[in-house]
Amino acid sequence: MKFFIDTANVEEIRKAHDMGLIDGVTTNPTLISKEGRDFRPLVSEICEIVDGPVSVEAVSAKSEDLVAEARTLSEIHENIVVKIPMTFEGLRAVRILTSEGIATNVTLIFSPTQALLAAKAGATYASPFIGRLDDVSHVGMDLVEQIIAIYDNYDFNTLVIVASIRNPIHVLEAALMGADIATIPYTVLEQLAKHPLTDVGVERFLDDWKKIPKK
Ligand code: G3P
Repeated sequence: MKFFIDTANVEEIRKAHDMGLIDGVTTNPTLISKEGRDFRPLVSEICEIVDGPVSVEAVSAKSEDLVAEARTLSEIHENIVVKIPMTFEGLRAVRILTSEGIATNVTLIFSPTQALLAAKAGATYASPFIGRLDDVSHVGMDLVEQIIAIYDNYDFNTLVIVASIRNPIHVLEAALMGADIATIPYTVLEQLAKHPLTDVGVERFLDDWKKIPKK
């Protein structure tokens, strides 16, 4: 299972990378806008920190504009993956970009049939947004389970990125389902490592170690 970090904050990316846990990065316009920095230098810096796929989003509506935008984005660094919205225009763009060898991540997927279309278009990655489904009283992880079943049925090469992760249970369920990738916010990454019994145990062992006579 691969872990991507879902942020455009270089401090968070650096810290997660230093832990040795991060295989890639996903961003979106909302995450980029939070940083208050120029787009291109920010993305270049992210690509220098992590040696793995870095998703950045194309925001055009028409397929020809998405393709042009994706070509420009892919010039920033060889590890750039272009996020393409799950629309018919987006799918047309994915088909063209795939034929040009540009990696794509079909984003804003909320149904299994959307994921099926993304795979048929040849997307490198498909990103179901599970937290946002939970927000509207749908079980987001059910969608991931269905997508994995569909992709397995037909041996699609498209990789599933579980996105819009909000808590450690999302990561646990993604791992149990065998999802290829979870893209995880930094706070959730920290939560994954924490356990109160570990903290208590470390403290107790340290106290007891101090009681042992040493020469
Ligand atoms: O990876 C997609 C993610 O950035 C969306 O997360 O929390 O805005 O639904 P969220």
